[in-house]
Amino acid sequence: MTDRDGRRHLLGMADVDAADVERILDTAKSFEAVLDREVKKVPTLRGRTVMTLFFESSTRTSSSFELAAKRLSADTMSLKASGSSVDKGESLKDTVQTISAYGPDVVVIRHAGIGAPGLVTRWTDAHVINAGDGKHQHPTQCLLDLYTMREALGRLDGVQVAIVGDVLHSRVARSNIQGFRMMGAEVLLVGPKTLIPRGIEATGVRVSHDIRDIADADVVYVLRMQRERMAEGAAYVPTLQEYTARWGVTRARLRPTQLVMHPGPMNRGVEIATDVADAAQSLILRQVEAGLVTRMAVLYDLVTRPYREPAAAPVVAAVA
Ligand code: NCD
Repeated sequence: MTDRDGRRHLLGMADVDAADVERILDTAKSFEAVLDREVKKVPTLRGRTVMTLFFESSTRTSSSFELAAKRLSADTMSLKASGSSVDKGESLKDTVQTISAYGPDVVVIRHAGIGAPGLVTRWTDAHVINAGDGKHQHPTQCLLDLYTMREALGRLDGVQVAIVGDVLHSRVARSNIQGFRMMGAEVLLVGPKTLIPRGIEATGVRVSHDIRDIADADVVYVLRMQRERMAEGAAYVPTLQEYTARWGVTRARLRPTQLVMHPGPMNRGVEIATDVADAAQSLILRQVEAGLVTRMAVLYDLVTRPYREPAAAPVVAAVA
């Protein structure tokens, strides 16, 4: 993880390299054994405090961070925008400074503003984890997806992944393109021209506007149609029915050996057919399981790994 201002944070996939990813996935794997026990808890982060701040809605990410911290014996506190003083117009800075007064070790934040987690690092002494900032980054989703793929296929290098749908509004796609490429997977983006950012080939991915091109993929990664991020009035697709007819991932469009992933929440019957979501080839619930051990591993890694040695200051010998 990148050290910034003497502390380690996870703000985006640019903060990790392939060695970091391997180490986090291996740590996550070792936590699987803990979750198989009758007492599903280890004392690793006893006496530490993990605070989660969710300014955007969340089911999987918020619940798994909270449970991950608890499984490591940390104290947890979760703040949601609704029901907190954010409702009364308190600024992000005041909110972060207020919770920082309690001395958290880690602050996990989800916010609609791109770059909000980076700002938070200025207002707290805690390690900061980005749990999703606007359409920018969602690094722990990428790590749990890599974990899920490595478990299912036994490798990441050379795996062919087709990411299908609304890439334009997806922070999951941005983190996954970076992380999948970093680990040697080949990425093909498939969707309507209006939902694939122009020039994205520069990141080392291929682009297709024909759904039949998912045929060669080992993994078909389906994205949610992010209706809440589509500016009102802008017609990205003629109608959702038309989107489904042209781009929906259905059984007829898949081979039985292809694996299917989706970060959730799903619009069943829109970007993914219900029978595909529930099929044996679907890894969607395995992704949720992976979210718990992967987030345990990220918390553990941030809090317990020693900082990198700062570069030694040049010694300037005094001239006698
Ligand atoms: C994603 C998110 O919030 O970015 N969901 C998640 O974290 N599991 C994807 C989405 O909302 O489509």
